[in-house]
Amino acid sequence: MKMIAPSILSADGSRLGDEIAAVEAAGADMIHIDVMDGHFVPNLTIGPGLVSSIRKATKLPFDVHLMIENPERYIEAFAQAGADWITIHVEASVHLHRTIGMIREKGLKAGVSLNPATPLAQVETILPDIDLLLVMTVNPGFGGQKFIEGMLPKIVQAKRMIREIAPEVLLEVDGGVTLKNIRAIADAGADILVAGSSIFGSVNYAETIAAMKSLLAAPTVTV
Ligand code: DX5
Ligand code: ZN
Repeated sequence: MKMIAPSILSADGSRLGDEIAAVEAAGADMIHIDVMDGHFVPNLTIGPGLVSSIRKATKLPFDVHLMIENPERYIEAFAQAGADWITIHVEASVHLHRTIGMIREKGLKAGVSLNPATPLAQVETILPDIDLLLVMTVNPGFGGQKFIEGMLPKIVQAKRMIREIAPEVLLEVDGGVTLKNIRAIADAGADILVAGSSIFGSVNYAETIAAMKSLLAAPTVTV
């Protein structure tokens, strides 16, 4: 069952709780929360305090995507704030295995993310120790960017690697997902589709998510 994770980066921040409740009512499967530090990526977003506040707005799992340096310093805080999944970047973690262990010790699901230019080989060894592999299909930092077409073969390869090494790992794709390309991305092997601007920029969230789900529900072509 493929899942839709709206990214609140593109939500109306002045009504964040209502926006989250609206996508839950519209059929979202989890809430994707983009955390940026102005170092690892050229943008700043939210910290654990706000995550804790919005925890009250929904029962959906929080999928926290840490685009920050030294992520090990913040695992405790985001766990306390109510994260269910925490994903860290391979490029930002010197001791990736240790930090994954910290996330799992908190009873949370652990994810690892790759920037577009980072090869899959970087995560091959860690794959049996994680719950989620996140393939970035834009350069992280901003919502509303265009999907990098060259990432489709990387998604196919990532799915193959997961099947061979750790079949229970979920494959998430983040960046530039729209109604036009969601089916191709799912066919390539994505289990969780992150979508920010294509949901929060639409007039009717329920219609958009329903349209995405019907595209995902059609039989998948094996690649
Ligand atoms: C980018 C973030 C994404 C972003 C996706 O750095 O990690 O989650 O919000 O936004 P869209 O769907 O608009 O590309
Ligand atoms: Zn993200």
